[in-house]
Amino acid sequence: MYDFDKMTDRRGTSCSKWDNMSSMFSEKGLLPLWIADMDFRCCEEAVSAIRKRVDHGVFGYTVLPDSYFDAIAGWMRRRHGWSVQKEWLVTSVTVVSALNIFVQAFTNPGDGVIIQKPVYFPFEECVLDNGRALVNNELLEQDGYYTMDFDDLERKASCPENKMLLLCSPHNPVCRAWTAEELLRVIDICRRNDIYLIADEIHMDFVFNAKHIPLGTLTDYDKLAVCTSPSKTFNMAGLKMANIFIPDENMRKAFTRRSKSQCGIIPNNPLSIAGIEAAYASGDKWLDEVKRYIWENFCFVDNYIKQYLPALRMTRPEATYLAWIDFSGTGLRGKELSVFLREKAKIALDEGSVFGKNSEGYARINLATDRTVVKECLDRIRDNLAK
Ligand SMILES: Cc1ncc(COP(=O)(O)O)c(C=O)c1O
Repeated sequence: MYDFDKMTDRRGTSCSKWDNMSSMFSEKGLLPLWIADMDFRCCEEAVSAIRKRVDHGVFGYTVLPDSYFDAIAGWMRRRHGWSVQKEWLVTSVTVVSALNIFVQAFTNPGDGVIIQKPVYFPFEECVLDNGRALVNNELLEQDGYYTMDFDDLERKASCPENKMLLLCSPHNPVCRAWTAEELLRVIDICRRNDIYLIADEIHMDFVFNAKHIPLGTLTDYDKLAVCTSPSKTFNMAGLKMANIFIPDENMRKAFTRRSKSQCGIIPNNPLSIAGIEAAYASGDKWLDEVKRYIWENFCFVDNYIKQYLPALRMTRPEATYLAWIDFSGTGLRGKELSVFLREKAKIALDEGSVFGKNSEGYARINLATDRTVVKECLDRIRDNLAK
């Protein structure tokens, strides 16, 4: 039994969330519930595997051992019913670096890449910073629940200049775990219009009262790739290894050519390999308990809002550990909301405007932290709204 109320003090470890806050937010002394990592210590199996590897003391060039693949394949099979083959696996430094490689390798400058806003903001960056055209298939929102606009997606996918869809599944920040029906429609649209379908499934292990459906279980489409990573699941974002599954051989070769040969990216870090393998092999119980704690945090926020903050609305949480909160009932949006959160409530959240123009009345609260921190955050919002 893990005790997630016993918070690990991360200050002074050069972590972004606590130690780099002042360079991201102009105010000092904020309570941090922003960037998407967890304040929880990783599972002991991973920590001791890394320690054992450190004790060996030689950290030269490294290849992926079979046991690394076996651990991940076992996880995908038992937790998601997905059978992955060894040759599909390519490692990347991060999921975002892989998304950039996909855009570079499979589209040309000026081509359109479709994303679905509001969405994790590096999606937009990796389209625009690579000189591609941003095509937004905006999500639809009704009563705090988001769905896809399939008519608009069909229209945009059928334009010959649009070549790729970056799909966020589950979706950050709108907390959706897409259903099989929704995903089958996406696959059908991409297949009929010859659109590359790049799925970012990094939040696959945080789904509540719903099911994550890996795209790879639904289709053999040869323009599909699925990006996964232990960074969210086991709180290992600093270990910098993501696992990308590309079933089609030609697509995989083109990805590898761009990533390895042209960019020199060979992300086989021996410490990361040891920790990641151990986590996927033995981290089930730890993850189950983390998920339970996070779900209780979602319920806590829901009750708190109903009781003390009726002007706020939390999007129905099916997935991720990130609560997506609509502040528009307070009359605060955009810059005003930002000033309220930073200067009055003194909390650091990911503010809605970075995810999309239509989200200026929203903020994202990272619930992968001690419940006293969550409560303190909500108390600060309540007390300062009342002033
Ligand atoms: C949807 C999504 N993709 C990717 C990432 C970042 O992952 P990585 O550090 O592996 O690039 C995040 C982090 O919040 C995310 O929410």
